[in-house]
Amino acid sequence: MSWEELLGKMLRIPVKVIRLALYCLLFLSVMEVVVYISGVQSGTVRYKPTWESLDSRPLPDWYDDAKFGIFMHWGVYSVPSYGSEWFWWNWQGQHKVDYEAFMRANYRPGFTYADFGPDFTAEFYKPKHWANVIASSGAKYVVLTSKHHEGYTLWPSKYSWNWNAKDVGSGRDLLGDLARAIRKTDVRFGLYFSLYEWFNPLYLLDKKNRFQTSQYIDLVMTPQLSEIVNNYRPEVIWADGDWEAFSSYWNSTNFLSWLYNDSPVKDTVVTNDRWGKECRCTHGGFYTCDDRYNPGHLVKHKWENCMTIDKLSWGYRRDASLSDYFTIEELIKTLMETVSCGGNLLMNVGPTHDGRIAPIFEERLRDMGKWLSVNGEAVYASRPWVHQNDSVTKDVWYTSKSDATYTYVYATILTWPLGNKLQLGGVRPSDVKGMEMLGYSGKVSWTERVPEGIVVTLPTFSPADAPCQWAWVLKISTPLSRKLRYY
Ligand SMILES: *[C@@H]1O[C@H](CO)[C@@H](O)[C@H](O)[C@H]1NC(C)=O
Ligand SMILES: *[C@@H]1O[C@H](CO)[C@@H](O)[C@H](O)[C@H]1NC(C)=O
Repeated sequence: MSWEELLGKMLRIPVKVIRLALYCLLFLSVMEVVVYISGVQSGTVRYKPTWESLDSRPLPDWYDDAKFGIFMHWGVYSVPSYGSEWFWWNWQGQHKVDYEAFMRANYRPGFTYADFGPDFTAEFYKPKHWANVIASSGAKYVVLTSKHHEGYTLWPSKYSWNWNAKDVGSGRDLLGDLARAIRKTDVRFGLYFSLYEWFNPLYLLDKKNRFQTSQYIDLVMTPQLSEIVNNYRPEVIWADGDWEAFSSYWNSTNFLSWLYNDSPVKDTVVTNDRWGKECRCTHGGFYTCDDRYNPGHLVKHKWENCMTIDKLSWGYRRDASLSDYFTIEELIKTLMETVSCGGNLLMNVGPTHDGRIAPIFEERLRDMGKWLSVNGEAVYASRPWVHQNDSVTKDVWYTSKSDATYTYVYATILTWPLGNKLQLGGVRPSDVKGMEMLGYSGKVSWTERVPEGIVVTLPTFSPADAPCQWAWVLKISTPLSRKLRYY
């Protein structure tokens, strides 16, 4: 007796009916899987306002392929342009002596931070030129501060009356003008947004109430987030200023479920991990962990290294000296360390109050672009390799990519080796099926190394034939590897 017959006997139902019921059940569960899969593909999966559900959303592919973005900190702090973008806090929150001395020496008594607002004039601001500089850097996305901790909005927010770019200063929608110019390039447009505001009375009231009230959230933060998403459709929302309260106060999971389910950018938007003091490196989209996070080892969750060309400040400051700016060699090194370990690099420049990108920043950006125009193959849409850096030679960083025939291993050489001999411990001689240098048409030869690896004889070229000036990439063809994702 089959188990269906047994079940039929026990329930006093004909075997046929039992079988029919089983087929129906099977059909229904198959249909559920089909509906689920097509839902995932067409983006109709609904996310719940819980971290478990939100964290399960796959990061849109464009972000991991992009690898390199430009960060811009621009606000009223660009007017004093002294110290850093934390000017207001350092001066009137912390009462730091150098800030108080700077104000005494240069401004009339009684001058307030709000008095800087009218001087945020942006008279030389040419969004088309900015878009050109940004695109020429090779960056695939840009993230502009829509609002920093000072609360001043670069767009005409209804919820920041008389403390926004349209009402005070330039009289322009600075944000909207850049969004339009960027959309004419292949760079994606993103926005930074500070959840908290140092001195907003509604925020300070909620804080005094130990975050048991939500006046600031209801009357300022949530309406502003809706404004920037609905009006400017940013494809990155880079939250910050979250660290004083848990995500439950910021209502982050409710905002994100709307963003992922129903917003105009639901299919392509990416977000970071600064959504509450329990969130960093734990919840949200890509991880930023700390500012300038650059762990030097593979991280198995998509992450981003946000850092600044001016080592000490995100906002423009006039008191920077030449040695405060990273050199192009150091910036390329940071890019390749980051990308080799699975990260994206978000590199910051601070524009001036009158709307310029200072020539030193422009030069760094254009130099990045020159290098990437030769070596971008090792960067864009690459994946981490088995090894992130070489085991024998310092300053060699690996990335990889596959086509139908080969897995290509890219070794970026940051320091040219003595005698043109490059020792690579990470590459097995039996795996090498071909080798070239990106941007150079001559031959590259190699021999086996004892006890392991290979020794590459780098080509000697005259300066005119050099593919680039700052770092060089070997492209090594190896047998197709099935394991393409190491994170
Ligand atoms: C959080 O967001 C939800 C959904 O948008 C809303 O209904 C709720 O009122 C918000 N809570 C607070 C405290 O603002
Ligand atoms: C590879 O990188 C790690 C992490 O930065 C470092 O500790 C190690 O020394 C590097 N290896 C070499 C040979 O430079």
